[in-house]
Amino acid sequence: MTPVVFAFPGHTGLMRQLQAETGAIAGTLVLHRFPDGESYVRLDTPVAGREAVFVCSLADPDAKLLPLLFAVAAAKDLRAVRAGIVAPYLAYMRQDARFKPGEAISSATVGRLVSGIADWLVTVDPHLHRHASLDAVYAIPSRVVQAAPAIATWIAANVTKPLLVGPDAESGQWVAQVASAANAPCIVLDKTRRGDRDVTVSMPSTERFRDRTPVLVDDIVSTAHTMIAAIVDLRRAGFAAPVCIGVHALFADHAYAELQAAGAARIVTCNTVPHASNAIDVDAAIAAEVGALLGRKAV
Ligand code: R5P
Repeated sequence: MTPVVFAFPGHTGLMRQLQAETGAIAGTLVLHRFPDGESYVRLDTPVAGREAVFVCSLADPDAKLLPLLFAVAAAKDLRAVRAGIVAPYLAYMRQDARFKPGEAISSATVGRLVSGIADWLVTVDPHLHRHASLDAVYAIPSRVVQAAPAIATWIAANVTKPLLVGPDAESGQWVAQVASAANAPCIVLDKTRRGDRDVTVSMPSTERFRDRTPVLVDDIVSTAHTMIAAIVDLRRAGFAAPVCIGVHALFADHAYAELQAAGAARIVTCNTVPHASNAIDVDAAIAAEVGALLGRKAV
């Protein structure tokens, strides 16, 4: 039987891409929030005997995780062959250790919750810093789509003489991949974070790159203060206004406006979280990975 794809709000484009890739039918998902804050979920398309795919990017995760898990659990109760999650942005990956006594390691708890209900997971560039792979956090089969090739293609088409800049050590892995694919040099700054919005960075020697356009690349832009601190340092060092590229456009509160005001030449993100800055399309790469996981390619 053909698979069925259920998309949470904001993911029509990715749902169509998944349908084109796998031949899946579009499922109807009914979501409702009761006045007391509880969630109601109903699958209005039969799933018995089908692979069920649930598309839900997990920005603002506390509001979305429970309805998503209710939907996946319903599909399994209703005898779907398997029920999997496509979460282009996977939340709760940064608190992956106990930095202060008594802290909850939320990535581990969310990993256990999701792995206890869903059969598989596909995501884009999860924040893996202290873990080598998603398998350290998720017990179910998972596949990771890398945004680096699409970002490198965008840079090659839009930026002359780029210098890739990672604002902190954690961004080093993405920046190195993008730089190699874009055939451009890269540097990584050293970040100190004292609070949510209290961030400073320091820079290695950059004299020989001064004639290049700095392109900041980070996986997540949340308060944007990491990028803002990097812009301040790059401008102080005599660079042109940087292009800022984030994989996941979280942009908490007024972060987008603050990043614009800080002097970004351009702000561009991948479409893993719907946002006005989305300019780099990773839907086709996600759909290809899901198609491979389901063993299906539409003809
Ligand atoms: C952290 O290591 C991540 O890679 C990002 O640098 C961080 O999440 C960005 O957060 P913000 O935009 O709040 O500075």
